[in-house]
Amino acid sequence: TNYEFILTETKGRVGIVTLNRRKALNALSTPLMTELNAALKVFDKDENIGAMVITGSEKAFAAGADIKEMSKLNFVDNFKNNFIEDWTGVTKIRKPIIAAVNGFALGGGCELAMMCDIIYAGEGATFGQPEIKLGIIPGAGGTQRLTQAVGKAKAMHLNLTGDFISAAEAEKAGLVAKIYPADQLVAEAIKNAEKIASYSLPSVLMAKELVNKSFELPLSEGLHLERRLFHSLFATEDQKEGMNAFAEKRAPNFKHK
Ligand code: HXC
Repeated sequence: TNYEFILTETKGRVGIVTLNRRKALNALSTPLMTELNAALKVFDKDENIGAMVITGSEKAFAAGADIKEMSKLNFVDNFKNNFIEDWTGVTKIRKPIIAAVNGFALGGGCELAMMCDIIYAGEGATFGQPEIKLGIIPGAGGTQRLTQAVGKAKAMHLNLTGDFISAAEAEKAGLVAKIYPADQLVAEAIKNAEKIASYSLPSVLMAKELVNKSFELPLSEGLHLERRLFHSLFATEDQKEGMNAFAEKRAPNFKHK
């Protein structure tokens, strides 16, 4: 497929999307988000893909929603068109998505990274929710997912001051899983994605779903669901293969079913 604002490629069982509006620091325009959602859906349906990576350029993962596009919008149209709602397509993808963040992840860019399942950052990455400086607030998780990730103190600071934090601070706060040298970030993210994609797909999908459910369910219900899905994996060929391979001291050959 030919996209205008993103590049897509595959490496082994990994689907890679590179945001490609370099001159605008990958500002997330509506057409870009439409393409991103479409590409992720294609990878999600592809039997040969087990995990995905979203990345940007060295200078910017994404510097936010497209301010020039938004400056023309008004309340009634936003409300009628449910502006931003379609961004949530990213969160409906079932296979794991890694955000590999070099440079700016600001506003909607930070929110897009937080919609992914894991954030890895390059050493020079910068995170922030500067919407407040534009007379607005975040609209795609900056007040909600960020608070779940880093707690009230830092979420309030970031949302109310619009200040940026470094990759090191973001990792310390729990927003970022790992930091890599900037020039190795994408390769390392792909390596981690390859590892995830090598495992039995049903177990990977369930693990992702359950971690996300932990934010929605009371503990007892989350634990109950976890135990039931754990039981169910014993119906897969891959559970037999994984455990036999361990006993036979060899690498498992998962069929991903
Ligand atoms: C549209 C943007 C943009 C954005 C940068 N650009 N961010 N265009 N929307 N969010 C454009 C600039 O206009 C400029 O275009 C080019 O990218 C390079 O940016 P510069 O500002 O010249 O680069 P620099 O001086 O290095 O500063 C980098 C920056 C700054 C600190 C990241 O660009 C910046 O503050 N950007 C806006 C960050 C922001 O406020 N994000 C939140 C947006 S609101 P030209 O044509 O002049 O060369 C948001 C709401 C989300 O995300 C709501 C729910 C999804």
